[in-house]
Amino acid sequence: MTQSQTTDTTPPSPHEIATELSKRVIGQREAIREMSISMSKKLAGLPVGNLLMIGSSGTGKTTLMKAVESFLEKRPNLSLRSTVIRMHANVLGEEAQRGRSGEAILHRLLDRAREQLGPDAPLEDLLAQASRGIVFVDEVDKIRAWVGDQPNTSGIRAQEALLTVMENEAVPLTLPKWAGGDRITVDSSGLLFVCGGAFEGLWDSVFDRVTVGKDRGALKPVTVVEDGEVEEKLIFHLRDWLRNDDLFEYGMSPQFLSRYDAVVLLSDLTVEELERIFLTVPDSGYHMARAYFKSRGLNLLLSKKAVYRIAKEAAREQRLGARALKEVFRRVIRDYEYDPESKVNGPESSVLIDLPDVEAALKLRQRG
Ligand SMILES: Nc1ncnc2c1ncn2[C@@H]1O[C@H](COP(=O)(O)OP(=O)(O)O)[C@@H](O)[C@H]1O
Ligand SMILES: [Mg+2]
Repeated sequence: MTQSQTTDTTPPSPHEIATELSKRVIGQREAIREMSISMSKKLAGLPVGNLLMIGSSGTGKTTLMKAVESFLEKRPNLSLRSTVIRMHANVLGEEAQRGRSGEAILHRLLDRAREQLGPDAPLEDLLAQASRGIVFVDEVDKIRAWVGDQPNTSGIRAQEALLTVMENEAVPLTLPKWAGGDRITVDSSGLLFVCGGAFEGLWDSVFDRVTVGKDRGALKPVTVVEDGEVEEKLIFHLRDWLRNDDLFEYGMSPQFLSRYDAVVLLSDLTVEELERIFLTVPDSGYHMARAYFKSRGLNLLLSKKAVYRIAKEAAREQRLGARALKEVFRRVIRDYEYDPESKVNGPESSVLIDLPDVEAALKLRQRG
C-alpha cells in the first residue's frame, strides 16, 4: 500500500488528531485527548458517545471546536465521512419557539452535506451524510432551565429540541424547499454531539456544597508546607467533586444529561500557557500589533520579561481567561500605536517594549 492510499483510507489516530489540534489549542491536554479519541472513532464510522465540555470563559472551548472544524476542512477525504456544524445553543431556543424543534440542526447538516457533496448529489446520499454528522453546540449553559428562581422558557425549549435529535431513530423532518419540502423521518442516532459551556457559578456552587452545604466537611483541609510554614489548606478541583446532580441543579434536565457519555473539564490557564497563547495564537493582540507596526515599516519586539508580566496580569483576571490578554495588552500598547515612529528605540526601526514599560503602562491605568 502506498503512503497516499494509507492516508486516504485509514482514519487518523487520536494521537495524530491531538497533535494537529494542539497547534491551535494551548494546554487543555485532557480535553484535546477526549476530543481526539471521539473524532478518531467517528471518522472510522464507529458509534461515539456525546461529550459535554465545561470550562471557564476564555479557556479554549470555542477554539477547540473550531480547531476540529478546520482539521476536517483541510482534509476533504475525511470530511466526506462526517459533516460538521457549529451553532450557538440560544439559536435552538429561538427556533424551537417557532415550532421547528430540532429541525434547525438537521437542516443545517443537510445544507452542509450539500456543500460537501455538491448540488447534484442524490437526496438519499445527502441524508445519509447529514445523519452521521458532528454537531457542536456552543454556550450550552445558556439554555439552562432556570436563571435564579425564574424559569427560562426558551432554555427549556432548547433542551427539548436537542433531546429530539439526540439519539433518536425517527425524527420528523420537513425537508427544505430545495429538497422538495416533503415530510419524512430521519434516523439521527448516528449524530455526535459535542456541547460546551462555561457554566458560570458552577465552581462556586459545588465548592459550597462540599464545604458548607449539603455535603459539609466532604472536602477536608490538607496540611501543606509553604516557605517553611505549615498551613491547613482546602484544595478544590471541580473535576474531583462534580456530579450530575450539580448540573441538574444548574438547570440542565436529567434526560438531557443522560445523553452524554463523558463530561470533560477544561482547566483554567496558567501564566505559562497564557504566555504561549499571547505569542503563538495568530490573532492575539501581540500579532495584531506586530502587523500594524510592520505596515509602518517598524519591528515591534517585546522582551521575555515584558511578556511574562502581561501574562501574569492577565492571569489575575481568571474570569476572562485568555481574553484578559487582549485587554491587558491594549493598556500597554495604546500609547505606542498612536505615534509608532516616535517610539523607535533600537536598530533597524525596532520598537522594543521591556518590563519597565509594561509596569509603567499598567500602573498608569491603576491610578487613572
Ligand atoms: N487554550 C487556548 N489555546 C489557544 N487560544 C486560546 C485558548 N483559550 C483561549 N484562547 C484564546 O482566547 C480567546 C477566547 O477563547 P475561546 O476559545 O473563544 O474561549 P471560550 O472557552 O470562552 O469559548 C480566543 O481568541 C483564543 O484565541
Ligand atoms: Mg466560547
